Amino acid sequence: MTTIADLTNHQIRLAARPNGLPTREGWSFTSEPVNAPDDEGVLIKTLAISLDPAMRGWMNEGKSYIPPVGIGEVMRAGGIGEVIASKSPAFAVGDVVGCSPGTQEYCLVPGTDLKRAGVFKIDLRLGTQTQWLNVLGMPGMTGYFGLMDVGMPQAGETVVVSGAAGAVGQTVGQLAKIKGCRVVGIAGGPAKCEWVVKELGFDACIDYKAGDVKAGLKAHCPKGVDIYFDNVGGDILDAVLTRINRKARIIVCGAISQYNNTTPVKGPANYLSLLVNRARMEGIVVFDYADRYHLAVAEMAGYLKDGRMKSKEDVVTGLDTFPETLLKLFNGENFGKLVLQVASA
Ligand SMILES: NC(=O)c1ccc[n+]([C@@H]2O[C@H](COP(=O)([O-])OP(=O)(O)OC[C@H]3O[C@@H](n4cnc5c(N)ncnc54)[C@H](OP(=O)(O)O)[C@@H]3O)[C@@H](O)[C@H]2O)c1
Repeated sequence: MTTIADLTNHQIRLAARPNGLPTREGWSFTSEPVNAPDDEGVLIKTLAISLDPAMRGWMNEGKSYIPPVGIGEVMRAGGIGEVIASKSPAFAVGDVVGCSPGTQEYCLVPGTDLKRAGVFKIDLRLGTQTQWLNVLGMPGMTGYFGLMDVGMPQAGETVVVSGAAGAVGQTVGQLAKIKGCRVVGIAGGPAKCEWVVKELGFDACIDYKAGDVKAGLKAHCPKGVDIYFDNVGGDILDAVLTRINRKARIIVCGAISQYNNTTPVKGPANYLSLLVNRARMEGIVVFDYADRYHLAVAEMAGYLKDGRMKSKEDVVTGLDTFPETLLKLFNGENFGKLVLQVASA
């Protein structure tokens, strides 16, 4: 029988801050023994980790909404794990939990850290493990609160969402449809565009790699744009700004087109459209809504169950592939929420 003392924890640590796209050389691969939990702590075996565009920002030095990952530290990553040893009354061996294990195979959480680390039991009746990293997890919560709290959609309004086939985008578009809006996605390539229209029920999708986004917006948003959920920034944001309506809301969720720039971030040139249209742009950080995640999870799980919401995850296996798999987010190779499967339960 395997004991904790027999286990080795393989880890991936940040070795150097990238300039542009991260490379394998910027990571170090370490291993260390696994320890048993202390008073009231738990030992979690990582099952899957969530690969997120935000990871690129956490690798940079400097002030943000969360401190950067330090050089030599295990890379920060949200994920799903199985409790394999517990001294906590709140968790039993075998519990599947949401947590922030980082890029490593085992994660020891002291009892004093359980709350701060956000370890929580997952109800697999509401969704699969990978759905808990997608629609019911951090990206889904981002889409939900960004659209509902910042976008405040009204039935009949036109919502445009970029990164439409990605984790956040798929939630935003489907939720906006449920709320009675016209929904136009923007995504890269015919396969993604076809999927969001045919499978997810968006009204249209503009392939930004195929041509003119402005012309696509003109064709598919005949009444203008009331809400733009921006996941990409850059030229696409500028194009949407030319089509917004009076009192439009622009949710600044992310700007993935800018994350690997070696030159300064390109801001919106067309921002005076906000003035002309008495419109607003507002940023969102999902963690601000943690107190209300349970409400959004309950609502979204209902949509998953009654078939009004679908979810697509792109699962890659093997912790060692992390450096290359992460890059799929930045070249658009991921189709759906990018998940790295580390082990099976
Ligand atoms: N504010 C928050 O609290 C919060 C929380 C979670 C996520 N986010 C942000 O939300 C956005 C989406 O994240 P996600 O996890 O859902 O990722 P995702 O959409 O599943 O994956 C990233 C996608 O971005 C697109 N992309 C990459 N480079 C691009 C470029 N230069 N121009 C246009 N599109 C590009 C690619 O899709 P195509 O093939 O369509 O190009 C790629 O598949 C990111 O900006 C992320 O930082 C913010």
